[in-house]
Amino acid sequence: MQITVTVNGSDHTVDVEPRMLLSDLLRNSLRLTGTNIGCDTSQCGSCTVHFNGEAVKSCTLLAVQADGAEITTIEGLEQNGELHPMQKAFWDQHGLQCGFCTPGMIMTAIRVVETNQGELTDETIRKGLYGNMCRCTGYQNIVRAVQQAAEEMQGGSQ
Ligand code: FES
Ligand code: FES
Repeated sequence: MQITVTVNGSDHTVDVEPRMLLSDLLRNSLRLTGTNIGCDTSQCGSCTVHFNGEAVKSCTLLAVQADGAEITTIEGLEQNGELHPMQKAFWDQHGLQCGFCTPGMIMTAIRVVETNQGELTDETIRKGLYGNMCRCTGYQNIVRAVQQAAEEMQGGSQ
């Protein structure tokens, strides 16, 4: 069937099989390979994108469920050649090693900051990132990166 989806600000009308996953639509049909697939069973979080403004694991949705939706992937974060504060913070704080988890981690981390009410503690960040797994970093530098980005995001630059 045919669906129309807005991805990173551009409309795409594509033919999809009813069983196709959103993650496969993004990677295979739209060639947005920044969205990684680590498990396909809703556990690792590496496939996380923003779906109508919420962080969702794109392997948990069918492509047909995205008909009419607005999606942002890691490729859509940079604006006018400038990295998103969360991308820059991961760079600055060395919040990655192999980088496989990083796109999903960043998409979730942005929503953790945006939806946080009150103080953003290390514990709040770790709880918010609970659905995103990293096999390399030990998480501490990721937490530091989120703290750095939060200062900039909450300072009104985004
Ligand atoms: Fe979607 Fe792992 S690939 S949660
Ligand atoms: Fe390798 Fe997170 S940096 S899995």
